[in-house]
Amino acid sequence: MVFSIARRAAFAVILSAVSAMLFALPAMATTTPAWAGFGNTPGWYDWSVVSTLPGNVGQTSPHGGYSTATAKCRVCHSVHAASSVLGSELLLPTSVRDACTYCHLNAGIGYTQVYGSNPASYSAGNLPNAHNTWVDGLGVTQGVTCTMCHQVHGAANLMTANTHLTQSILRSFAEYDPTAGAPLAADSREMALTRWCAGCHFSLPPGSSFYATAYDMGTHIMSVANTNYANPAASFTGRVAWRDSTYCMSCHASDYGVSGGWPHLTAGVRFLVSATSSVGTTMPASVPIQDGICLRCHRDGTGAGIGLTY
Ligand code: HEC
Ligand code: HEC
Ligand code: HEC
Ligand code: HEC
Ligand code: HEC
Ligand code: HEC
Repeated sequence: MVFSIARRAAFAVILSAVSAMLFALPAMATTTPAWAGFGNTPGWYDWSVVSTLPGNVGQTSPHGGYSTATAKCRVCHSVHAASSVLGSELLLPTSVRDACTYCHLNAGIGYTQVYGSNPASYSAGNLPNAHNTWVDGLGVTQGVTCTMCHQVHGAANLMTANTHLTQSILRSFAEYDPTAGAPLAADSREMALTRWCAGCHFSLPPGSSFYATAYDMGTHIMSVANTNYANPAASFTGRVAWRDSTYCMSCHASDYGVSGGWPHLTAGVRFLVSATSSVGTTMPASVPIQDGICLRCHRDGTGAGIGLTY
């Protein structure tokens, strides 16, 4: 009992010393920095509060941009209070797998949301319409976690040179699909994302890849729709497609461009879109094998196309 009172007193002294230090900073904002932060447990700074400190002025997020004057590390890492929280790793208030949940899957917090603000859509099971993570029957973590795609500290040498990807702090990979290559600095958002996706999705048996700019007999071609297409193996030569298939999201386009949707959790299964009428309006695909997915591009909506003219 005596020990616990002493500890509490010591904590209060530390707390007031820290508050005094924060108050001593010049041009201090009116809000008092709180120990409320990440996970609502003591020991972390609340970003919404410390973002107003002088060293953090002009900083848009706790990710990257660290300097001697910024106050960001302790938004996520607690040097002495982390281990008291069950399941914490790397001095985080939680596991690495769930380190982003509090801020990005929690509508109440007010930051950009992914997975419909629902932690279950990220980690509760193997969903057919999400990049997510789950624990299998043997207790092994499967799927893909936030930090497999994102570089949380925004370290330049772990990201690509492409601005569109850098904005979303997307990791680069040591190994990229040899055909797609690594995203280039000058690539458009669509091109850069396509090459980036192929950085993980490059093995497709036998010996082909998800990415093929020329007919390779193994995977769907990724090209513009030509007025005259002469696949060397086909009996028909002429127009066969009315919409380009240049990017992954030419087909995997469900919720593309919707903040926090694609490629996290989308309405369409496998992020696919289908057609209500050929080349007309699109809708999320409910099953990945439905023909509407192909008819969207292989009919023109006015009587030409697969099963009609070729
Ligand atoms: C937005 C939350 C966040 C902020 C802010 C943050 N970190 Fe991290 N840190 C993480 C996460 C999550 C990991 C695990 C990363 C991973 O597995 O890729 C991590 C990992 C680490 C590691 C272990 C790296 C390893 O590979 O073992 C160190 C060291 C570290 N952070 C230090 C810092 C320092 C120092 C700062 C401030 C300059 C900081 N972090 C700011 C979330 C954060
Ligand atoms: C303490 C809160 C906090 C935690 C934890 C956190 N973030 Fe963020 N994150 C922010 C804020 C604040 C922003 C900028 C404002 C916004 O997006 O609403 C941001 C922005 C981002 C962005 C957009 C790029 C940028 O820097 O503006 C990405 C991507 C992102 N976070 C990913 C992650 C990932 C992945 C994790 C887990 C490793 C994570 N965040 C953990 C607060 C957090
Ligand atoms: C870090 C590696 C990685 C990156 C980068 C990546 N994926 Fe995946 N992807 C996976 C893994 C692992 C799975 C299987 C687990 C799952 O569905 O979450 C998967 C599953 C998928 C699926 C099937 C979804 C399902 O629920 O069955 C599609 C479609 C897909 N990825 C497309 C993409 C696209 C498009 C991109 C680029 C935005 C991309 N992937 C980037 C690793 C990655
Ligand atoms: C021409 C349309 C089209 C393009 C372009 C396309 N895909 Fe797909 N993809 C599909 C369809 C349709 C399915 C679902 C049918 C299937 O699983 O074979 C699919 C399935 C997938 C799957 C899940 C496979 C599985 O076994 O569940 C992944 C992963 C994937 N695509 C990744 C990519 C990546 C990465 C790109 C870009 C490099 C890409 N796709 C480009 C149409 C396309
Ligand atoms: C398969 C890879 C992948 C995984 C896993 C993933 N992300 Fe992302 N994330 C992306 C991509 C790609 C973008 C950029 C999408 C675009 O440009 O349309 C993005 C964008 C974001 C953004 C910015 C959204 C916006 O509207 O600006 C945030 C925030 C974010 N991710 C957080 C997370 C968090 C948190 C997790 C885990 C809970 C996570 N991501 C898991 C690939 C991934
Ligand atoms: C986003 C548009 C788009 C979608 C969706 C699409 N295709 Fe294609 N497809 C094309 C384009 C473009 C070509 C190349 C033709 C050209 O150059 O005009 C093509 C070519 C083909 C070819 C010729 C073989 C090859 O690889 O060159 C076949 C077969 C084919 N598509 C089948 C399908 C099937 C099956 C689906 C549905 C799972 C589908 N396509 C979905 C646009 C699409």
